Amino acid sequence: MSEQNEPDRYGVVGYPVSHSRSPIIHRVFAQQTGQHLTYELLEVPPAELESAIRTFQRQGGRGLNITVPHKSEAVRLVDELSEAASMAGAVNTLSISSDSVRGDNTDGVGLVRDLRKNHRVAVEGARVLILGAGGATRGIMAPLLDEQPTTITLANRTVSKAQALANHFGSMGAVHACRFDDIVEDVDYDLVINATSAGLRGEALPFPAGIVTAETVCYDLSYGTGDTPFTRWARTQGARRAIVGWGMLVEQAAESFYIWRGVRPDTRSVLKRLPR
Ligand code: ATR
Repeated sequence: MSEQNEPDRYGVVGYPVSHSRSPIIHRVFAQQTGQHLTYELLEVPPAELESAIRTFQRQGGRGLNITVPHKSEAVRLVDELSEAASMAGAVNTLSISSDSVRGDNTDGVGLVRDLRKNHRVAVEGARVLILGAGGATRGIMAPLLDEQPTTITLANRTVSKAQALANHFGSMGAVHACRFDDIVEDVDYDLVINATSAGLRGEALPFPAGIVTAETVCYDLSYGTGDTPFTRWARTQGARRAIVGWGMLVEQAAESFYIWRGVRPDTRSVLKRLPR
């Protein structure tokens, strides 16, 4: 807090960003914990990311969340990178002082916390299948592997990208790569995570039948109003639990808030009140 008792400034940078729920979430966290801060939306095209961060820093801003499409580019722009951000190859949280910017990544921790705390789903000992091998997958790999699943299978349309991630994270646990059509159907996966953007333009999902049982927990990293194409698909495949990633959004925000303010907000009450 400054001497004049001005609120500390935070915000989220994205393009587009008007749909972001981060301002609501952080304002409720601030209210709940009595923290004196503001949180704003910054719509910044890719070519202007660096100058937007520098301007925010010069104006005394204290922290930014970084969202689509800037998460990988932000890695290049920070002075210091946390291990989580370095493993993820992406930054979603900047902590800013007058002379330095530190990049962190709270997405994977947010997912694991949502699974464990809000849904009582353990990753430890689980057979995990991840659909997709882009930036979102890379961001969640290390925190998932830290939980010690039995295996993680990465299935992707472009198998070389899944293979590259399997090689990158292979030293942390058993990680296999395959095409969608080569997903072994006689394995009962405990957890299937959708990290693709497939279906979002109305096209049919390319995932084979038979990879989901009634017991499989299906989790979509993306969120929207109501069910997503993936959670609808999962239910038609017989899954009893198909989860939309709102909890991950709130938990990653809580972790950013903790990094910035040193206080842990109560995520459950926010999740209940979140407009969706
Ligand atoms: P993100 O940062 O959200 O992961 P990304 O890096 O562009 O975004 O990755 C998008 C993922 O969705 C990739 O795994 C992509 O598959 P490819 O690597 O083969 O491109 C996957 N994806 C997107 N549209 C898809 C579709 N129609 N069918 C199957 N996979 C799709």
